[in-house]
Amino acid sequence: MTHLRLRTYLLLGILSVFIIIHLLVDVIDQKSIRLQASMKKDRNSIMEATNQTDTFFWPSPVCPRNMSVANMKGFDSLPAHIRDFLYYRHCRRFPLLLDLPDKCGGVERSGDVFLLLVIKSSPVNYERREVLRKTWAKERLHNGVWIRRLFLSGTTNQGFEKMRLNKLLQAEQREYNDIIQWDFTDSFYNLTLKQVLFLEWMERNCPNARFLFNGDDDVFANTDNMVEFLQSLKDNDGRKHLFIGHLIQNVGPIRSSGSKYYIPVQVHESNSYPPYCGGGGFLLSGYTALVIHNMSRSITILPIDDVYMGMCLAKAALAPSSHMGVKTAGLYIPASNVDTYDPCYYKEMLLVHRFLPAQMYLMWQRIHDRALKCGSSG
Ligand SMILES: *[C@@H]1O[C@H](CO)[C@@H](O)[C@H](O)[C@H]1NC(C)=O
Ligand SMILES: *[C@@H]1O[C@H](CO)[C@@H](O)[C@H](O)[C@H]1NC(C)=O
Ligand SMILES: *[C@@H]1O[C@H](CO)[C@@H](O)[C@H](O)[C@H]1NC(C)=O
Ligand SMILES: *[C@@H]1O[C@H](CO)[C@@H](O)[C@H](O)[C@H]1NC(C)=O
Repeated sequence: MTHLRLRTYLLLGILSVFIIIHLLVDVIDQKSIRLQASMKKDRNSIMEATNQTDTFFWPSPVCPRNMSVANMKGFDSLPAHIRDFLYYRHCRRFPLLLDLPDKCGGVERSGDVFLLLVIKSSPVNYERREVLRKTWAKERLHNGVWIRRLFLSGTTNQGFEKMRLNKLLQAEQREYNDIIQWDFTDSFYNLTLKQVLFLEWMERNCPNARFLFNGDDDVFANTDNMVEFLQSLKDNDGRKHLFIGHLIQNVGPIRSSGSKYYIPVQVHESNSYPPYCGGGGFLLSGYTALVIHNMSRSITILPIDDVYMGMCLAKAALAPSSHMGVKTAGLYIPASNVDTYDPCYYKEMLLVHRFLPAQMYLMWQRIHDRALKCGSSG
């Protein structure tokens, strides 16, 4: 009797332990399922809000190195920055850190933008951006048409310094709404990547802009003259080909490894470049910008951005041309006793390379000075 009762108790005990364990496991399971679900929901809502698959909050899928480039003849003896370029040459998708999808008022209304100023600017160049915003890159109505401004940026440095520079751009963005920033290293060799990413952005957000000025943040661009020149083109409202600047022809890659522009055969095999316009700045129509973007899809990236534009034009059988008023190689001033910053030289120009912020500010003031007298010839 007691034996049977003991066995029953024992069985009951074991059973209840089983039940308790089962219940516990169930509760834990439910909890973790709910936790997982809520994490997924958070993640999805962040992704929806930012409308990006590669968000800032979640590790972005990094573009892997192309290891087979290391099999190229002479690869190991190339300078480090060129080896680095070759490893990542195929990468064309980078997360946007700062975006302005409404810069041109939406796709439909983007035709109201007559001249879009597209200025490549590294995060550290704060002073240059500040002075451009006050001078030739001011967003304004000139001669009845709209001028809009965009700075293109990547990221520089590492760790805290990189974070600080990103914060600087965020602060500028809050005040001016004029920056597009991608999460790639903003280096000389990545300028073509920046250009290609911009063209892709333009096709998506501002496809009907009439004309673009594409340039560096250290040039003096007489944007008033640019608008007047573009308005004088009677048969082109931006829907036909236009690509003008300082035309460079019959040149090829520099093969000496000490040069900033060194391009070894592993990067560009041919000994010649197609005609192109010097990269300090050039003017192009919206139409030509879209054609270049289309061509760029099937042309491997060459690190020299202005030559790469020439390659895209050549593939589309379009020619770049020169304009007298573009001096990306510096202004030729005939006599040594003449002031190289005489505003009368700059009043007639479209573009001159290499200006410091203070000179930029002063020159913009002086060419707009009604009292400025510029002799009988000009
Ligand atoms: C989100 O992205 C999709 C596809 O890229 C696009 O069609 C849609 O317009 C975007 N939505 C917003 C709110 O930007
Ligand atoms: C990787 O590099 C090799 C050698 O240059 C090239 O043939 C191949 O197309 C590259 N792969 C990608 C994905 O770009
Ligand atoms: C270009 O940017 C990518 C992404 O940040 C980086 O991996 C690569 O090293 C950069 N290339 C050069 C030549 O600076
Ligand atoms: C883009 O290029 C393809 C061929 O590569 C061509 O069929 C298409 O018409 C082009 N589109 C534009 C807008 O130039």
